[in-house]
Amino acid sequence: MSDLPLISLRGVTKRYGEGATSFLALKGVDLDIQRGEFVAIMGPSGSGKSTAMNTLGCLDRPTGGQYLFKGAHVESLTRDERARLRRRFFGFVFQGFNLLARTSAQENVELPLLYRGESASARRAAAAKALEAVGLKGWEHHTPAELSGGQQQRVAIARAIVTEPAVLLADEPTGNLDTQRSHEIMDLISRLNSEQGITVLMVTHEPDMAAYAQRMVRFVDGLVSTDKRNQQRALPGSYKPAAALETR
Ligand SMILES: Nc1ncnc2c1ncn2[C@@H]1O[C@H](COP(=O)(O)OP(=O)(O)O)[C@@H](O)[C@H]1O
Ligand SMILES: [Mg+2]
Repeated sequence: MSDLPLISLRGVTKRYGEGATSFLALKGVDLDIQRGEFVAIMGPSGSGKSTAMNTLGCLDRPTGGQYLFKGAHVESLTRDERARLRRRFFGFVFQGFNLLARTSAQENVELPLLYRGESASARRAAAAKALEAVGLKGWEHHTPAELSGGQQQRVAIARAIVTEPAVLLADEPTGNLDTQRSHEIMDLISRLNSEQGITVLMVTHEPDMAAYAQRMVRFVDGLVSTDKRNQQRALPGSYKPAAALETR
């Protein structure tokens, strides 16, 4: 049983729309992810990376094929069952942070727990712990507009991990950040993987960010084209800026 992959896609297809204007974004994806892996998903724009992430995260349903999560057939779940699976096991981080404006960091992070119906005191404690884990202790009452881009992404990561997910899905998490801030976010994501054992799937265009992953999966044209071990893994804290500029 312990050899069972956490995630297993078999011949997964995803078609958007119907009829002549429909588009087959995933054309039969086979992919196994083991518990605790850190996988970078790369590939050209339009190759199906975000579609694959949305399918993996149970935001969307495959049109065909099989998606096994912990041995359960996700493709045959109802919408509500899929939503429950998503809230229980997955955390999401997007390029655009997607935080609620005029809402404090603390409240943003508490949101997934509110959906779960947890008490105010449990929400407060868990959010404070998640914000501390991403290095934002003391920033709880700031709104997104009062935080830098890097800090906003940290809040988004805290919101993603506050439910203690098994899997963190990050779709171009450093796409809106400068190099220094990008490496800081990668340090954080790497540590969540290595220290907390969270399985991480991360889409990125940047080889320097993919370098933190153990494994690199490349999508081309709706299919996995290559799947390799990363032989030269970047370790958290290894990035040294060319000039030690403090630009926060
Ligand atoms: N909601 C949608 N409706 C129709 N087509 C879509 C939709 N989402 C994505 N697509 C199409 O599916 C293909 C793959 O998109 P996507 O998964 O976003 O690629 P990537 O993340 O690799 O850039 C693209 O051609 C895109 O235009
Ligand atoms: Mg995308």
